[in-house]
Amino acid sequence: MLAGRDAQLEDMSVAVQRMTLGRFERSILLTGLRGVGKTVLLNEFGMIAEREGWIHEHLEATDDTKIAKAMATMARRCLLELSLRERIKDRAVAGLRVLKAFVKIHVPAGDGGALTIDVEPFAGLADSGDLERDIGDIFREVGETAREAQTGVLFTIDELQYLSSDELSVLIVGLHRVSQLGLPLLVAGAGLPSLPGLAGEARSYAERLFSFIEIGSLKKDDAIAAVVEPVQAEGADWEPLALEKILRDSEGYPYFLQEFGKQAWNVAEGPVITAAEFDRSTVLALDELDTGFFRARVDKTSDAERNYLRAMAQLDGPGPYASGEVAASMGKTTGQVGPVRDSLIKRGLIFAPRHGQVAFTVPMFEQFILRRLT
Ligand SMILES: Nc1ncnc2c1ncn2[C@@H]1O[C@H](COP(=O)(O)OP(=O)(O)O)[C@@H](O)[C@H]1O
Ligand SMILES: [Mg+2]
Repeated sequence: MLAGRDAQLEDMSVAVQRMTLGRFERSILLTGLRGVGKTVLLNEFGMIAEREGWIHEHLEATDDTKIAKAMATMARRCLLELSLRERIKDRAVAGLRVLKAFVKIHVPAGDGGALTIDVEPFAGLADSGDLERDIGDIFREVGETAREAQTGVLFTIDELQYLSSDELSVLIVGLHRVSQLGLPLLVAGAGLPSLPGLAGEARSYAERLFSFIEIGSLKKDDAIAAVVEPVQAEGADWEPLALEKILRDSEGYPYFLQEFGKQAWNVAEGPVITAAEFDRSTVLALDELDTGFFRARVDKTSDAERNYLRAMAQLDGPGPYASGEVAASMGKTTGQVGPVRDSLIKRGLIFAPRHGQVAFTVPMFEQFILRRLT
C-alpha cells in the first residue's frame, strides 16, 4: 500500500495530461533519506505515464554512469518504439539518424559496448561536440517525435546523487535547451539529500525546470493507513497499543513500518495483533534490518570510514552533527578527516545538510551503529 503520496501522484497525473496538450510542466526531483519511498514513487510515476499511453524509460544511476550514454540509450529505446507506429515511422527514423551522429561523437565504442543504431547518421544536429547542446538536440528529437505521435515520454532516473555535478549539469542544461518548445518530455529524478550541489548556469536553470519535492517519513494518519489497511484487508486488526508502538518504533518511516509490520504479522496468532506480540516481534524486525537494510550500507566501508561513522553515532542524538565535533571526538582536525568524510558522502552514507554539518542518509542509522558496530 502506498500511503500518503496522493498529492504527488495527482501532480504527476496532471502534468502528464497537460503536457500531452502541449503545455509546459516542470520536471520533478524527489529527494529524501533511504527507505522513505522515492523508488516506489518513481515506479508509480512510470505507471501513470504508461496508463496515459506515454512511453516510459527508467535509469538507475551508479557511480560510473555516463550521462551521454545513459541518455542515448533511453532515447534509442523511445525512438525505436515510436518507429513501430506506421504514421510516424519516418519522423522516428529521422530521430534515430540524429542519435546515430550523437553516439558517434559522445559515446565511444570502448565505453562498455557500442549502441547499435541501424541507420545512416544525419550530419548537423547533435554532433557539435558540445555535450549540453547535443543532448538538447536529442531531447528535441525524442520530444518532437512523441508529439507527432500525440503521446509523450517520461524518463525516470533513480539514485541521481551518484551523478557527478558535471554530469548532472549536462542533463539539466540539456533539458533547459528544449524546455521552451513545449514538447511532451518529462524527467522525474530521485536521490538522496546529498544530490550534488549545482553551480552557476545549471542551478538557475534547475530552479525553473524542476519542482523539488522532499519525501520524508509519513504523517501519523498515513503511517496508520500504511499498516492498518493491509491488515484489515485480511480480516485482521491491531490492538490500539500495538499500533501506537509500531508508529513510535518506526518513526513513521515507510521502510520500517513495513519491516516492523511484517514481523508483527508473522508473530501474531491473530486476528488481532497485540502489544505483547508486537514487543516480541521487534527483535526479529531489528535483526532483519541490521543484517539487511543497514548492513548492506556499511559492507564496503573501510576501517577509517567506520571509525568516522562510529564517531558520529556516539555524539548525542540522531544528527545532524557538527563536522568539527566529529573530528574532535576522534582527536583529529576537520582537515585530517576531510578525505574520509568526502568518501562517505560519495558512497551515499552521509551528506552535508549545510556547511560544517554531517548527517546520516539512512534513518536511525546511529542506533544500528551503536548496536552493531561498537
Ligand atoms: N508511501 C508508502 N506507504 C507504505 N509503504 C511504503 C511507502 N513508500 C515506501 N514504502 C515501503 O518502503 C520501502 C522502501 O521504499 P523505497 O522506494 O525503496 O525507498 P527509497 O527509494 O526512498 O530508499 C518500499 O519497499 C515499501 O515497502
Ligand atoms: Mg530508492
